[in-house]
Amino acid sequence: MKFFIDTANIDEIKEAKQLGILDGVTTNPSLMAKVGIKGEEAIREHYRKICELVDGPVSAEVISTDYDSMMAEAKALASIDRRIVVKIPMIPDGVKALSALRDEGIPTNCTLVFSAGQALLAAKAGATYVSPFIGRIDDITWDGIALIEEIVEIYEIQGFETEVLAASIRSARHIVEAAKAGADIVTCPLASIKGLFKHPLTDIGLEKFLRDFRQSQG
Ligand code: E4P
Repeated sequence: MKFFIDTANIDEIKEAKQLGILDGVTTNPSLMAKVGIKGEEAIREHYRKICELVDGPVSAEVISTDYDSMMAEAKALASIDRRIVVKIPMIPDGVKALSALRDEGIPTNCTLVFSAGQALLAAKAGATYVSPFIGRIDDITWDGIALIEEIVEIYEIQGFETEVLAASIRSARHIVEAAKAGADIVTCPLASIKGLFKHPLTDIGLEKFLRDFRQSQG
């Protein structure tokens, strides 16, 4: 399973990269707003900086909702760097754009996916990645991980090549469950990645090893 970081924050991307486990980055308009990037050229420049840091796919989301504008925006985003993957929302014009972008060889990430039917449409339209939002599904007491399992099963049965990118991760547990469910990728906040490290027995064990070593050396 590949690990992407779900942020537009350069320091967080650097920190995840230093761990040596980073395969890519996803952003969305809310994450870009959070780091205070304003204006078209500033946004392009920020994506350039992210792409320089990461040797892997970097998802950049369109903000248009009609086909023609989405296509123009997608092409402009894709021209920033070869690593850019264009994020397209799961709406009818978005599905149309996914298949047109596939024909033009531009990689895509279909976002805001909340059902197996939507994931089926995304794969049929040739999306490179599909992003089911597991945290937001759990937030309304449905089962986000069950959706990942269902999509993985459908894609396997049907032989779709679209990769399942578990998004809207809220915890380290979500990452483990997404891996068990067969997700190809998880995109996570840095805090959830760091949560994977934590175990009190590791801390207690390390402290004892070091104490025993110090004592044995007098
Ligand atoms: C990433 O591709 C998604 O936009 C993101 O994971 C959504 O996460 P959220 O539900 O925490 O906003």
